[in-house]
Amino acid sequence: MSILDKRPALAAEIDRVAEVAGYLWEKGWAERNGGNITVNITEFIDKDIEAMPAITEPKEIGFYLPGLEGCYFYCKGTNRRMRDLARKPMENGSIIRILPDCTSYVIIADHDIAPTSELPSHLAVHNHLIERKSPYKACVHTHPIELVALTHNNNWLRRDVATKVLWSMIPETKAFAPKGVGIVPYMPPGSKELAEATIRTIDFDYDVVLWEKHGVFAVDTDVMSAFDQIDVLNKSAQIYIAARNMGFIPDGLSEAQMREISRLFNLPK
Ligand code: 13P
Ligand code: ZN
Repeated sequence: MSILDKRPALAAEIDRVAEVAGYLWEKGWAERNGGNITVNITEFIDKDIEAMPAITEPKEIGFYLPGLEGCYFYCKGTNRRMRDLARKPMENGSIIRILPDCTSYVIIADHDIAPTSELPSHLAVHNHLIERKSPYKACVHTHPIELVALTHNNNWLRRDVATKVLWSMIPETKAFAPKGVGIVPYMPPGSKELAEATIRTIDFDYDVVLWEKHGVFAVDTDVMSAFDQIDVLNKSAQIYIAARNMGFIPDGLSEAQMREISRLFNLPK
């Protein structure tokens, strides 16, 4: 028995998470248990799910997150592999219910699989999105090789240096990652400070944030769109590196060409 039985809409949503998990593995961005995904699935919750008993004791989130009252999330399990989740999402992740105190959660289905160690960042960001009345429902954290590599150099960590170069590699990158990349300086994985810095950076108006010497954290309406933003940005990083490997620094699109793209696609920046 699974919570997904006879709930095709919820099952389809979890299928999309599994599909993206497979892409993360194929891309080489998800070594071992690397990366995590959470999706706000509250819209799929019915009365029967609301009545389902918890299968674990309450656990602390580490934050008071009032926006999450009554919310439910699918979360990748900590120490679980994306490549396993791609085949068996409910054996490598679980569904949690935020308790009315807004500081703790319980697992309700299908199995007692503890959520990702990055839960503080994920839930704090979901809370922030809800408070901002954002339509965004998905958070994806992953370890894309080229984007992480460029965070190993101080020049690339200065505000919007990476954004400008990445946008200038191919017109679609600006069109499909229109807010660019924000930068969060190195902080320990799973920490509250990392969660707080991630919110501050997203609030500064980024959908995609680079965690220095660690990975990427992206938000969007759904899991596929969050993946797409990371994918186009990493593609640009690869083009930049390919040019450098050919022995030259790529020119990039000109300022005028970039402005033209903004007009053409009606972009905010
Ligand atoms: P989890 O296995 O706890 O999700 O951790 C993976 C990760 O990438 C931590 O940053
Ligand atoms: Zn990570």
